[in-house]
Amino acid sequence: HLKLAILISGRGSNMEALLKAAEDPAFPAKPALVLSNRPDAKGLETAARAGVPTLAIDHKLYGKDREAFERELDKALSDAGIEIIALAGFMRVLTPWFVTRWEGRMINIHPSLLPKYKGLDTHQRAIDAGDREAGCTVHWVSAGVDEGEIIAQAAIPILPGDTADSLAARLLPEEHRLYPRALAIACARLRT
Ligand code: GAR
Repeated sequence: HLKLAILISGRGSNMEALLKAAEDPAFPAKPALVLSNRPDAKGLETAARAGVPTLAIDHKLYGKDREAFERELDKALSDAGIEIIALAGFMRVLTPWFVTRWEGRMINIHPSLLPKYKGLDTHQRAIDAGDREAGCTVHWVSAGVDEGEIIAQAAIPILPGDTADSLAARLLPEEHRLYPRALAIACARLRT
């Protein structure tokens, strides 16, 4: 089993889906650390209840010095012997320094059908564009934000009257199904 770190910033429902999947002994990763850049992230409590070690590294303590924050992050991950990282609603942009260090060992879930709608407000942008479907993507993390190689995607139709919120709510269960499957694929690629 690969030692997995899950990085969150808030609710952590995708993290929870990964923890549930990893309860199956056949799942290729074992959660070894849940790390948040926000000490008040709800997901930290969920992880602690599940018996997974948690850590908060408050990015606000580092001001504008992104690399100082990331050096702490990197140290925590290395100390825990982490082999693969899953970003799950982690809302900090990572510098090329950090991304390069973990390149090929870090994946992310993004709430759009990449390459469409990198960045924020993905659902509103899909609605405004008149798209017929929205979705989510799990991809390898590379230096360009939301630009790494795609591992897996799931799509849902955009219905008349949909708002960004209704779309996000209907997409979330798809994210929870997709992310464990994509993480397993990533683990298999890491091993070869
Ligand atoms: C998820 O919808 C995820 O796709 C999105 O944030 C939400 C986190 O929810 N990620 C991004 O927007 C990344 N830029 P969660 O904390 O309940 O998993």
